[in-house]
Amino acid sequence: MSDLVEYEKIGSIGVITVNNPPVNALSPGVPEGMVEGVEKGIADPDVKAMVLIGAGRSFIAGADIKFLGKPRSKIASNYRELFENSEKPIVAAIHGYALGGGLETALGCHYRVAVESAKVGLPEVLIGILPGGAGTQRLPRLIGPEAALEMIVTGRHVPAREAGELGIIDEVVADGDLKSAAIAFAEKIADQRPIPRISQMNEKVENVDSGIFDAMRKKIERRARNQIAPYHCILCVEAAVSLPFDEGVARERELFQELVNGEEAKSLRYAFFSERQAAKIPDIDKSIVPVDVKLAAVVGAGTMGGGIAMCFADSGIPVKLLEISKKFLEEGMAKIKANYETSIKRGSIDAAEMDKRLALIDPVLAYEDIADADLVIEAVFEEMSVKEEVFGKLDAVMKPGAILASNTSTLDIDQIARATKRPEAVLGMHFLSPANVMKLLEIVRGENTSKEAVVTALKIGRRIGKVGAVCGNCDGFLANRSRMPFQTEMNILIEDGAMPEQVDKVMIDFGYPMGPFAVGDLAGLDIGYAVRKRRAVESPNEFRKLPIPDRLYEMGRYGQKTSGGWFNYKPGDRTPYPDPEVVKVIEDTRRKLGVEPHDFTDEEILQRLLFSSINEAAKILEEGIAYRASDVDIMWLYGFGFPRYRGGLMYWADQIGVKKIYETMCEWEKAYGERWKPATLIKELADSGKSFADA
Ligand code: 3HC
Ligand code: NAI
Repeated sequence: MSDLVEYEKIGSIGVITVNNPPVNALSPGVPEGMVEGVEKGIADPDVKAMVLIGAGRSFIAGADIKFLGKPRSKIASNYRELFENSEKPIVAAIHGYALGGGLETALGCHYRVAVESAKVGLPEVLIGILPGGAGTQRLPRLIGPEAALEMIVTGRHVPAREAGELGIIDEVVADGDLKSAAIAFAEKIADQRPIPRISQMNEKVENVDSGIFDAMRKKIERRARNQIAPYHCILCVEAAVSLPFDEGVARERELFQELVNGEEAKSLRYAFFSERQAAKIPDIDKSIVPVDVKLAAVVGAGTMGGGIAMCFADSGIPVKLLEISKKFLEEGMAKIKANYETSIKRGSIDAAEMDKRLALIDPVLAYEDIADADLVIEAVFEEMSVKEEVFGKLDAVMKPGAILASNTSTLDIDQIARATKRPEAVLGMHFLSPANVMKLLEIVRGENTSKEAVVTALKIGRRIGKVGAVCGNCDGFLANRSRMPFQTEMNILIEDGAMPEQVDKVMIDFGYPMGPFAVGDLAGLDIGYAVRKRRAVESPNEFRKLPIPDRLYEMGRYGQKTSGGWFNYKPGDRTPYPDPEVVKVIEDTRRKLGVEPHDFTDEEILQRLLFSSINEAAKILEEGIAYRASDVDIMWLYGFGFPRYRGGLMYWADQIGVKKIYETMCEWEKAYGERWKPATLIKELADSGKSFADA
């Protein structure tokens, strides 16, 4: 037997166990091993049925993504058909995940048993491909084309109970001894004939209303713009209802091949592995044990503090929320409740779930009341003196070993740490707004931050559903600092002749969910104004005045909260409408600055915005504030809505080529001045023909 798959006989049942940690991906050797196991079972006259199960934490999480696009063995291509044609029934026993090729393997089996906590799905679309193991042909035959279409096009993970209701799982069993439950099930069905073979079930794919396919195309129009895979997934399910099984499989293969080595798939695979890479810190190995966070605390129940407390409650972790006054505490709790009520209205949670979550948030007023928390996150006003006072108090009360984090967006983590006698326990845990929605957790490692604190932040981040990435300490840290030039540049573009709606359209066409000016209106123009005021005092030499947003702020145009900022908004409508008042401000400012406005091409707009940030990110890499370019990409994907199918800011830059970017910047330096001077790293990479991925 292949050492990745084991076979044993238990009574009259042959049990085939896949053992390819960590998630039993279908790496070379796994299909071969499974086939060997099935053949043993078929050959043994005492075996009446077989069970296919996964060792460790999961059934099979899918094809091995590292091998996608490479030639596969004949067995890897047709083992599901071999399984299905077996004269002895095979039962797939599912725990953890049966995803992609994993679910396709289970669909090649005759029955499926799963524990309650298991999840199944065909998430290939999320890595830019489609289910290429006949999943698009078997799933519609099993559960009907409409439900299959929804699963395949969204790629969502379906919990076992729901999968049972859909007809994917034949029996859902309690978590626990799955192997025994599956053997019992196999014994029960061993003699039943005919054996159910999904490829022969045609009833659900006959006489299908073809309108469901166009309806799906319409539905994903906005979300899937610029992408191919979601549309190819639809074509496959269309083939399932219009072609015989074998021809449908051939069509699926053909469409799979069109995608697997394309740009979209490569970028999405890169994003998948970058996300996991971000959790690996060069000088921290597995021997460093994170603090087990059983109780968390948050200081400050404002916009961010309330959202952060919700993140813990949403993940079932008790959290204490501390404020300076009863009034602010009550206001903070009321806001949290209102947020949950909105979720109820949207149907994402029910009232019982809200009560459960609210019960996990304990509002308190005294520091002594949070002393026993394992982790505390400070989210008070963005003022160094206030932060120092809070950390002094935390140092005095928190139990030994507790991790002390700050959610500051810009302040010096080392200075904050110096307010305590335990700087090793202090780090930045920077959530983005709204904290309960945005997935990025920027983890800022100070000069003295312990490795234990870093791994604790990474681990708890994962538990509360965030994607963590680590960087060093500097003004704005990695995420906001690398984005700042983009924000300056978008304003310069307006001074020079572009209009906000034009810039927004270019970025939406590129793949952003919203344009940057509309985002500004959502965040509030008052936030950027306050940051500029501070920077004007702290670093006057590097500071560039932005007269247009300053003027809009002075006019009281803060954005959506005042019904107008860069754009106008109607009550209850978040659509941005251009406003002649803003046009007048822009034109007046251009006149005052003596600027002769000129036209910009869409490409110029895109490049000016993104190249400016690439230059800053290169400086961040050069200074050792970031470990690798892919961490910048993670921050942009999860913090700023950069389109995932373009990999990330630095990956995108590498596709253009550092040399080309360098040359463009040199030209712009001549035309527009010093701000376009390429970072040393960019020059070095360009000279040596290397990429950011090599840096
Ligand atoms: N191929 C290769 N490696 C994989 C993998 C896969 N399909 N799935 C997970 N891994 C690796 C991860 O890279 C990670 O490696 P690391 O420890 O070196 O960083 C390790 O397994 C553990 O993964 P996670 O950290 O993501 O573990 P979680 O428990 O958080 O999540 C999971 C588990 C939900 C299974 C998640 O890993 C996942 O979504 N995996 C991808 C699933 C997928 O896309 N399957 C479809 C593959 S394509 C396919 O099947 C094509 C077929 O139709 C022909
Ligand atoms: P906010 O003004 O909404 O909330 C701050 C809260 O802290 C207020 O409720 C205040 O009463 C409370 N507070 C002040 N001093 C306190 C003290 N000594 N003890 C206990 N509570 C105290 O501010 P916001 O926006 O929530 O920001 C908080 C922190 O998060 C800041 O450091 C900010 O830079 C950072 N941040 C803000 C983001 C945003 O978009 N608002 C994004 C990411 C980080």
